[in-house]
Amino acid sequence: DMDRFIDALMKRMTVEEKIGQLNLPVTGDITTGQAKSSDVAQKIEKGLVGGLFNLKGVDRILEVQKLAVEKSRLGIPLLFGMDVIHGYETIFPIPLGLSCTWDMAAIEQSARIAAIEASADGISWTFSPMVDISRDPRWGRVSEGSGEDPFLGGAIAQAMVLGYQGTDLKDQLHRNDEIMACVKHFALYGAGEAGRDYNTVDMSRNRMFNEYMYPYEAAVEAGVGSVMASFNEVDGIPATGNRWLMTDLLRDKWGFQGFVVTDFTGISEMVEHGVGDLQTVSALALNAGVDMDMVSEGFVGTLMKSIKEGKVRMATLNTACRRILEAKYKLGLFDNPYKYCDVNRPKRDIFTKEHRDVARKIAGESFVLLKNSAGVLPLKKQGTVAVIGPLGNTRSNMPGTWSVAARLNDYPSLYEGLKEMMAGKVNITYAKGSNLIGDAAYEERATMFGRSLNRDNRTDKELLDEALQTAAGADVIVAALGESSEMSGESSSRTELGLPDVQHTLLEALLKTGKPVVLTLFTGRPLTLTWEQEHVPAILNVWFGGSEAAYAIGDVLFGDVNPSGKLTMTFPKNVGQIPLFYNHKNTGRPLAEGKWFEKFRSNYLDVDNEPLYPFGYGLSYTTFQYSDIALSTPTLGKDGSVTAVVTVTNTGKRDGAEVVQLYIRDLVGSITRPVRELKGFNKIFLRAGESKTVSFKITPDLLRFYDYNLNYIAEPGDFDIMIGGDSQAVKTARLTLK
Ligand code: IFM
Repeated sequence: DMDRFIDALMKRMTVEEKIGQLNLPVTGDITTGQAKSSDVAQKIEKGLVGGLFNLKGVDRILEVQKLAVEKSRLGIPLLFGMDVIHGYETIFPIPLGLSCTWDMAAIEQSARIAAIEASADGISWTFSPMVDISRDPRWGRVSEGSGEDPFLGGAIAQAMVLGYQGTDLKDQLHRNDEIMACVKHFALYGAGEAGRDYNTVDMSRNRMFNEYMYPYEAAVEAGVGSVMASFNEVDGIPATGNRWLMTDLLRDKWGFQGFVVTDFTGISEMVEHGVGDLQTVSALALNAGVDMDMVSEGFVGTLMKSIKEGKVRMATLNTACRRILEAKYKLGLFDNPYKYCDVNRPKRDIFTKEHRDVARKIAGESFVLLKNSAGVLPLKKQGTVAVIGPLGNTRSNMPGTWSVAARLNDYPSLYEGLKEMMAGKVNITYAKGSNLIGDAAYEERATMFGRSLNRDNRTDKELLDEALQTAAGADVIVAALGESSEMSGESSSRTELGLPDVQHTLLEALLKTGKPVVLTLFTGRPLTLTWEQEHVPAILNVWFGGSEAAYAIGDVLFGDVNPSGKLTMTFPKNVGQIPLFYNHKNTGRPLAEGKWFEKFRSNYLDVDNEPLYPFGYGLSYTTFQYSDIALSTPTLGKDGSVTAVVTVTNTGKRDGAEVVQLYIRDLVGSITRPVRELKGFNKIFLRAGESKTVSFKITPDLLRFYDYNLNYIAEPGDFDIMIGGDSQAVKTARLTLK
């Protein structure tokens, strides 16, 4: 069995070889950080490498695996990791978009397909899911997560782990199309001060456990094979060197059985954090419970010395080494190191018609209809539709950030996709209208290491004139505006979240033509759209929809798919409101409902407290009506349960899907409690005119929270039960916990 096998293997390993298993260099052409690894092949032959990441191509991976298996002394196979974040070559919507589907089966399926494709190309390990809760859209990496809510985030974390790993990684993987997942970034990476990437995090334990930790814990519960440490500090100690986090909480409390890898040069970055030199921080990381060193080479460079000096115990090294070997064993690599190296698989399994059809369907589900006045949408399949904007004809921009294995030029741009779909029915025209960003230096930073948007050398006026000419010949304008894919994602924080000035000018000019304008918004984060909400008749938020985005947008614009996405992050009215999130506390001086401002209350002089679009919000081409809530009983015993039932009716003329949301407020607590918290959701499909009842089971377990002493308890008392189609429009009932 596994233990005996690893015992025997470790008996044969030198200390150097054990340290080597903890080393994860980067190789290949994919850039996800500043440092590079050197002499990788030689190190592999010497047994100084445990795995590699971001090498693309089964042929290349096979060759490198052969080096390890045939040329190193003990022939231990390597792990091959990659950032397979929202698909491999078939790209799904960015994770923030995926989360807006609220469709756990679809999300699991997207991870499943990603695993099939990645494993077909030699990959055994993905650095996903990213489950960092964030309330700050200035942070570019909100695009990679599931938004602001821990309950939803936890459900998505589990769906993704299941999709990648299947159900049996806990014991042993038998299939060659399932890969190991890695939940990241542990912990609290989404709470960096001022939304600046890699910035300091400081929060109470209470907030941590009630509002941020659950998605990581949920992934562990689902059996995730690995955990990635975050770049930020937690309680003044960088996560990578934080023993409370990596051992006390992760292993002792949550029972995590897999291994912990750093995020890139997380170990050497602790030198910059100011907690010691490379030897000190490497020992700190290992002693804290980190097992694998991505890129920094602090472990291979200094652990031997630390062991000799008694700063690291052999037993600690043995434990880390064993965890890496266990992962390889569970993946089946000792049975067959070439398990993921079937060179016939890529043709058969990657970017297939079947996968692409699924991606198109899921993309359509991820779009959020923010506004649709006077029934501008769906568009009629006739006449001329002008696609206008700097994002209207940019193929490489479609998949979005963190699509490192994408085949960028094989995906159609919006203009190309619509043209293909509407051939013979609608005349589709195009003009660029403006550059993405007025400021060339900003635009260069925003596309660094990313995809060029071919900055146009024509003047703003020339671009605009051309656009207005194109608009003049059209019946409807589809304005393709927003962010380029690299304006969100890692190291892409922004302090202004409106459309860049040049795009705003273009939009204003298009509106002045008097033609109907549909703002088709590409974005990786909530933007501030107060002006747009007031002036543009229809706004469809399409995030970055992946490889099939153009077709999926066409499906929704022309009404073949009825939009059903609901926001998982609050859209603020302006940047000054940030952080703005639905599950906030009440304060001792809350503003009365419906009021903008009251003196000596918690509010602003220049903007009200309300979001532009609340959490859970999203329109449909049909309408839904909710009945009052019926509770099976108004009181709940300690071991009992209550059912809350509503009837939802599709009151419009089209079939459609609705995400029915359950929120609960604990009215009195030993610590203050949020004004509402998501505690359930159910996505239902209703034919026009159809009604369905939706019921939620409420048990005392669902009412638990971490109290002042971090005991996870439910306190007797009154609760408001709220059900509706977003976090504001809700029916209410009162429940008492005995
Ligand atoms: O997985 C990523 C992580 O999310 C950010 N830094 C680099 C890692 C590996 O590419």
